[in-house]
Amino acid sequence: MESLRFAVIGAGKIGSAVALALDGRVGKVIATRRNLSKISHLKDKNILVTNDNELACRESDVVIFTLKPPQVIPEMRKLREHLANKLVISLAAAISLDMLKEAAPESYLVRAMSNVAILAKAAYTVYCPHPDVPDWVPQVASEVFGLFGWSRMVEEAYLDALTALSGSGPAYLYTVMEAMVYGGLMVGLPRELSTEAVAYSMIGASKMVLESGMHLAELRDMVVTPGGVTIEGIFQLEENRLRTALMKAIVESTEKAISIAERARREANRAER
Ligand SMILES: NC(=O)c1ccc[n+]([C@@H]2O[C@H](COP(=O)([O-])OP(=O)(O)OC[C@H]3O[C@@H](n4cnc5c(N)ncnc54)[C@H](OP(=O)(O)O)[C@@H]3O)[C@@H](O)[C@H]2O)c1
Repeated sequence: MESLRFAVIGAGKIGSAVALALDGRVGKVIATRRNLSKISHLKDKNILVTNDNELACRESDVVIFTLKPPQVIPEMRKLREHLANKLVISLAAAISLDMLKEAAPESYLVRAMSNVAILAKAAYTVYCPHPDVPDWVPQVASEVFGLFGWSRMVEEAYLDALTALSGSGPAYLYTVMEAMVYGGLMVGLPRELSTEAVAYSMIGASKMVLESGMHLAELRDMVVTPGGVTIEGIFQLEENRLRTALMKAIVESTEKAISIAERARREANRAER
């Protein structure tokens, strides 16, 4: 890893976070986007910035695509010869390994989904290598994603649902957290204290889930005393259908990922003809 050179194509929100997570841990990082003024802060690190995707790919051993989903296939097609025999990772929602393979058939391809917590090196990244890659590819991919936080190799069939669950997940959790912070404000807590209380409770609750091996309902029951404070709150959450709302959010955003993939496939086929 220390000697590998990385290109990050499309250094927006996720791409900039990826470049920063790699910086100092790998041989070299080049980040690209068209509007370079938006990534001038990356130059303060050891990251090279350019709007020349071809140059970035030529100068790299591993290329990570963080473009918006509809841009990935057309851009990969243009760069195909510079991606040959390289590890190419796509972090784009919805774009399947089949589509990636059509665009860059000579590359070692990995489709992955991460989240915004790359910035805190606490992302959860799920990934699926193309079936024809050599054995070193999942190994190197896992080391790369280890720099972002936690990771797990999964079947591709799960990736659209995981895009909804852990890719979009932070946005849902921020919404829940903001609502809890507002609740704290309503009963007179200072904003900072309310935010800190919610954020640390979220970390603690997550660690209990990951480390105790207990079922979520069991963990919740540990907090709920008969006739106590917590059951009053749980009753309100049930009456206002918090669980139904969150379940619907995951189902609808999974459907959206599937429809984005279908549209991207249609557009890619049209552009090829
Ligand atoms: N945001 C998230 O939390 C999240 C989570 C998981 C996965 N993702 C995935 O990550 C990808 C990027 O999402 P994002 O939220 O980071 O979007 P974003 O901020 O819009 O980043 C995409 C970047 O691509 C650049 N770009 C566009 N055309 C380009 C080209 N031809 N060459 C080089 N750069 C180009 C754009 O900058 P210029 O216009 O300056 O070129 C833009 O900054 C998406 O596929 C998304 O599915 C995002």
